[in-house]
Amino acid sequence: MYVQQESSDRPRRLRSTPAVRRLMAEVRVHPASLVQPLFVAESIEHPDPIPSMPGVVRHTLESGAAAVRRAADAGVGGVMLFGVPEHLDSQGSGADDPDGILNRAIGMAVDAAGDDLVVMADTCLDAFTDHGHCGVLSADGSVDNDATLRRYADIAAAQALAGAEVLGLSGMMDGQVAAVRAALDGAGRPDVAILAYAAKYASAWYGPFREAVSSQLSGDRRTYQMDPANRREAMREAGLDLAEGADILMVKPALGYLDVLADVAASADLPVWAYQVSGEYAAIEAAAANGWLDRDALMLETVLGIRRAGASAVLTYWATELAERLST
Ligand code: PBG
Repeated sequence: MYVQQESSDRPRRLRSTPAVRRLMAEVRVHPASLVQPLFVAESIEHPDPIPSMPGVVRHTLESGAAAVRRAADAGVGGVMLFGVPEHLDSQGSGADDPDGILNRAIGMAVDAAGDDLVVMADTCLDAFTDHGHCGVLSADGSVDNDATLRRYADIAAAQALAGAEVLGLSGMMDGQVAAVRAALDGAGRPDVAILAYAAKYASAWYGPFREAVSSQLSGDRRTYQMDPANRREAMREAGLDLAEGADILMVKPALGYLDVLADVAASADLPVWAYQVSGEYAAIEAAAANGWLDRDALMLETVLGIRRAGASAVLTYWATELAERLST
């Protein structure tokens, strides 16, 4: 027979009122721990909506400046800039051209931001190459790791010159952190920080992003991005990036990889961030548009979950909107 125990162990005590719950919260989302990714496209006259990412656009330089200002005014911690160039080639030469769209966008963002938020840029080749890979190709069509490192070194130097304060190394080439650190130091820019996408998985959650940057990729990135099956390998990647001089480690995507995020956060002695990617955003937006999910609630709940798993900051397409909601 079941006997009701008199219990003094009543966790519901600490859930009783909004004020109690607020005081008991173990983690919080603050505007300053959000990073807003922004796309800036060359040769467009007006902001260009991205169909698979409702509410997200490819910006002109002018509308991008306004988006940076809006993020800064909302207290967002930083912006991560991606460029969408008009001309592509095998080497991705637009990426290190000082007049290339991303480097111009960096200058625009630095001017718009003042000292109010941190300007970061994606240091990769995929949006600039006519084959869509994150590196340059060998004669046999495979991605040439070490030739790519030389490209990243040049891109990093150009981005630092343009004014980027943090470089996001998203290409998953072996040795990329060491190569970029050496290039920055060699260019007299030891002050520029490296955000290493330490554990970046070959994920179907990036689909809408590829539309956003008009990616030319056919095939996949499985020879450089990680296998979604692997958790232990993330620790190896994180350890290498740490040893090579990373300043911040990132796990990406976020929601499907919270175990990896928790592992990296538990063992690293430097900041660990996560990227709530385009497909995570698109899935919730699409379901919400059908009335099936509550986007406003999920915006906070998902970012909170990513914070709880160990991310000190989160890249999310909702950053500015969420920051505005949190500060009102
Ligand atoms: C590539 C890059 C990707 C994203 C950021 N940097 C796409 C990819 O690896 O194919 C994805 C971001 C997102 O989906 O929001 N350098």
